[in-house]
Amino acid sequence: MASTNPLFFLLLSTLLFLSPLSDAQTAPPLAKGLSYTFYKSTCPNLESIIRLELQRAFKSNVGLAAGLLRIHFHDCFVQGCDGSVLLDGSASGPSEKSAPPNLTLRKEAFDAINQLRDRIEKACGRVVSCADITALAARESVFLSGGPNYKVPLGRRDGLTFATSDATLKFLPSPRSNVSVLLAALALNNLDVNDLVALSGGHTIGIGHCSSFNNRIFPSRDPSMDQTFFNNLRLTCPTSSTTNTTNLDVRTPDVFDNKYYVDLVNRQGLFTSDQDLYSDGRTNPVVSAFANDQGLFFEKFAYSMVKMGMLNVVTGTGGQVRANCSARNPGTGWSVVDGEEGGSVAAY
Ligand code: HEM
Repeated sequence: MASTNPLFFLLLSTLLFLSPLSDAQTAPPLAKGLSYTFYKSTCPNLESIIRLELQRAFKSNVGLAAGLLRIHFHDCFVQGCDGSVLLDGSASGPSEKSAPPNLTLRKEAFDAINQLRDRIEKACGRVVSCADITALAARESVFLSGGPNYKVPLGRRDGLTFATSDATLKFLPSPRSNVSVLLAALALNNLDVNDLVALSGGHTIGIGHCSSFNNRIFPSRDPSMDQTFFNNLRLTCPTSSTTNTTNLDVRTPDVFDNKYYVDLVNRQGLFTSDQDLYSDGRTNPVVSAFANDQGLFFEKFAYSMVKMGMLNVVTGTGGQVRANCSARNPGTGWSVVDGEEGGSVAAY
């Protein structure tokens, strides 16, 4: 088979490097209002504070890294990287956080973002947004787990509103999606086939619940799944309603590496949305290239993360810098109704 020939991969890697997405530029163009030096004078130690705090936190809870990475993705895909996923519900309605795809975001990851915010406010005052802290925490999750150490453009402001459950469901694809559905969902955010395969590599760390992949093991084995992998999953999830969890990357569950793609090549991807990347001809060559070249994956992942991290950002004088990542600052962003503050409905 051509795909096992090393020359084939060499050619493929070369083609990928020459593709329009991967020319000499190693980072996408900056969104208006963002810069790599945004806090240089106002919070010069920001990045080292976050790195040191998370280094310590990951030692006692390795899963926190996965939780933080996923929060940034869920923040950016829905209404942009504005920290809206961090907000608790309010009188105006249930929060984005309580929409179905967000129910499995880790509470300790939300707590960690608030703790980082408090720590940063002590060092620099209230200058760094929760959306920027989330983006930097995601980078540390990748880097401290063994992945690339990419630069994060900063200057995001925190949004004043959160998305509805319907909007959340529209922008966050289900794990049962095939590649066509995934590509259509990513296109809503101007992300393409290369972004899809690279960003899905986030599944090299973390866990999934049986309910997220029970369609592949009940009533019988999805034919695109390896038999032994299936047997083991059926032990973890004896019934389709079990609430157990399993690792997303069966080879190196806590290490940020390219083994997720090796899993896919071996038909050991967990979700339909993972395994179909190998089955579908549009994404298969990229999966194979990443499975064979970790450096290529790291480069493309960093590129797509920076691109994702700039989706619909609020900058300049828009939004605010929250004092508590879970709540809008009191008295801000509220419309004035009958001379009183608090008419929140109009603000949404
Ligand atoms: C492309 C479409 C994607 C789908 C359909 C998807 C779906 C899911 C699902 C269903 C889970 C497990 C939820 C559970 O059962 O507990 C999960 C976990 C996770 N996802 Fe994704 N995801 C996608 C893209 C991404 C992206 C772009 C990233 C980051 C770059 C990411 C990072 C993660 C991480 C790190 C976890 C583990 C979280 C933890 O252990 O707490 N995912 N994803």
